[in-house]
This record gives sequence, C-alpha cells and structure tokens, in this order.
Amino acid sequence: MIIQTQDYTVFLGAIDIYLAPFLQRQQYSNIAILVDENTRQYCLPYLLEVVPSLKSAVILTITSGEQHKNIDTCAFLWQQLLEYQFDRRSLLLNLGGGVIGDMGGFVAATYKRGICFVQIPTTLLAQVDASIGGKLGIDLGGIKNSVGVFQNPQAVFIDPQFLQTLPARQLLNGFAEMVKHALIADADYWKKLQTVDISAPQSWQELIHTSLLIKKEVVEADPLEQGLRKILNFGHTIGHAIESYSLQYDSEPLLHGEAVALGMIAETRLSVQQGLLPESVGTQVCNYLQQQFPAYQIPNDAIATLTYYLQNDKKNSGQKIQSSLLQAIGNAVYDQTIGIDQIDFNRLTKASSVENYTLF
Ligand SMILES: NC(=O)c1ccc[n+]([C@@H]2O[C@H](COP(=O)([O-])OP(=O)(O)OC[C@H]3O[C@@H](n4cnc5c(N)ncnc54)[C@H](O)[C@@H]3O)[C@@H](O)[C@H]2O)c1
Ligand SMILES: [Zn+2]
Repeated sequence: MIIQTQDYTVFLGAIDIYLAPFLQRQQYSNIAILVDENTRQYCLPYLLEVVPSLKSAVILTITSGEQHKNIDTCAFLWQQLLEYQFDRRSLLLNLGGGVIGDMGGFVAATYKRGICFVQIPTTLLAQVDASIGGKLGIDLGGIKNSVGVFQNPQAVFIDPQFLQTLPARQLLNGFAEMVKHALIADADYWKKLQTVDISAPQSWQELIHTSLLIKKEVVEADPLEQGLRKILNFGHTIGHAIESYSLQYDSEPLLHGEAVALGMIAETRLSVQQGLLPESVGTQVCNYLQQQFPAYQIPNDAIATLTYYLQNDKKNSGQKIQSSLLQAIGNAVYDQTIGIDQIDFNRLTKASSVENYTLF
C-alpha cells in the first residue's frame, strides 16, 4: 500500500518489496542504519535478510530509552558519521521506535546541514503517529522535544511484521493513538477498533492504514498547527500533565499512550460537562477506555503538581486550559477553554466495577 503525502511516500507492507528498489533508484554514497539494542536484536536481522544490499551498511547502535534522546547521543552520532566520512549524499536509515525516529531524523537533518534519512518505524506508536508530520527532535533538561526541527524524510517504510516482537504494553501504547484517531475523526473506525483484541495476533495493516490517512489529512489541512491540527491533541492536554507527573514521581512511569488514554477519559468527561457531547456517548467512550487501558491511581496530593504542569503548558494560561474536545464519536472541536478546577483527576482511576460506574 502506498500513501502519498505532499512531500514523501509512506510505503505500508512487506519492506523488501519497497525498500530494495528505492535504494537502487537513489544511489547513496554511504548508508548507515541507526538501531538501539532491541531493534538491533529483533528488527535488524529481518531487515538485512529481506534487503541483503544493506549488509554493507554501517550499523550505529545507541541505548534504548527516552532518557537517551538527548544532545549527548546526537553528538556521538554526528561524530560517528564524521568518522565514517559520510558526505552529503549519504543516507541514514532510522530503524526503531519514536526515539530512534525523532533523534535519528534530527541528527540527519543537521549533519552537514542535512543529509537524507528514511524512517522505518518498528513500534505501533511510531508507525501510526511519529511517521507522519515531520516533527524531529530531542529532549533538553527533562523537557520533552524542546529542541528540534520540522523536516520530512525521503520516505517512510512501515512493515507490520516488526510488531511481532513488540511487547504487549508497547502495542497498547500505540493503540491509544489509534483510538484517538477514531474518536476525533472516524466513527466507523471507532466501531472497528471495538472488535480488536489487542492480546490476540492481529492483522494490523488495515488499521494502521486508516490511522495514517486520518493523520495525513489533518496534518496536510493545517501543517503549522494553527487550527484543525490541534484536534490531534485530544487527550494530550491533560494526558501530558499526567505523563510529566508520572515521569517525575513514579519508579515505573506511565507510557505516553497510557497517559493519553487517561487524558482522553478526562477530556471526554469535560466534553460532556461543556454540553458538547451527550452523556450516554461519553459513558460509552470512558467505559471502553477504562476497560482497555491500565488504571492509574492519582494521589490526592498530586493535584497541585498536575495543576502546575497544566498551567505551565504553553497552550494554557492562568486557571484556564485550551483543549480539543469531542462533539460526537468521530468529531472533535479545538480551542475549547476550560477551567482547571473543572477537571476531576480523582475519577480517572478505574472503577471497581465498570457497570456500577456513573459518569457524573
Ligand atoms: N515525531 C512525532 O510526530 C512523534 C509522535 C509520537 C511520539 N514521538 C516520540 O516517540 C517517542 C516514543 O516512541 P516509542 O513509543 O516508539 O518508544 P521507543 O522508541 O522508546 O520504543 C519503545 C521500546 O520498544 C523497543 N522496540 C522498538 N521496536 C521494537 C520491536 N519491533 N520489537 C521489540 N522491541 C522494540 C525499543 O527499543 C524501546 O525499548 C517519544 O520520544 C515521543 O516524543 C514522536
Ligand atoms: Zn501522542
């Protein structure tokens, strides 16, 4: 399957069909493959087996984890590219999750004022979310994505085969973004996702395709995030605050998608509270999210910290937050102003029995 964005092509399906001819067409002077220890173990052997011409590529390995998405790792990578004498006609293949894609893309976009790079996302989150939109970057001083650029890859190759070795928790992490795509833009997709049992083997390709089309359409309608693109932030205003809190205080922090799922519960409730979404629909959405995603206990004394994070989000000011909310399943509105005191963090915890759970 081929998805043509305005600037590059996303190839979805068995990677050998698409990548080998692509490399032959382009004739790069040098090729490096960026991996972490997990994608080196689980993804690289398959890639080299199905695209044997890559066997001569330089392999650059970094340590996995968001904490390594920083300037020190970039300096190491720039240095490596210099040592291997990569010139401006060389290519970097980023084989991994969103950390590899964001940082590898940033390194390529800045090395010698920019060399070509290709994204080969290997997590569900990176396949459905990070692969479209051109956002690249690293973290600085504990603040996520604080340094970066917008720059498009030469191409993106998404092969659902890579998901076979992905831990269940990481699958669910990406699934949260797919649920978001359905809620903001596509009621039929929402119905389809209801039938997915994440713990069973899946044929992911069709679902990934639908998510990519939704993200592409929204991003292309508003590349600079001045309006419509903000609907992709549904669940993220409150989700980011919970994610930041968890990163700072929990020994095993929530993953991004897990925090976004909690954010979607809170923002769905706010949609009902604001009179935008019928209560019965809100209940249906919240029940589903609570069944699919792990519960999280937010301590009472965390509310002040969460409020602090919300207030310091650049989109918000004072006691008000700006959020995207739902008007219906498949229909979101952006730039909704809400009072922080309207958010009920205590009620994000999973109810002991979903049947007994009442929304307000
Ligand atoms: N650019 C964007 O638009 C965009 C969008 C969403 C997220 N992001 C960024 O993406 C990052 C999160 O991405 P992520 O969730 O993919 O995390 P990640 O890159 O840290 O990958 C998660 C874990 O899975 C492992 N892994 C990757 N592929 C595997 C496979 N096929 N089999 C087994 N293990 C595998 C990795 O080594 C890592 O340990 C964040 O830094 C976030 O800011 C960027
Ligand atoms: Zn997200």
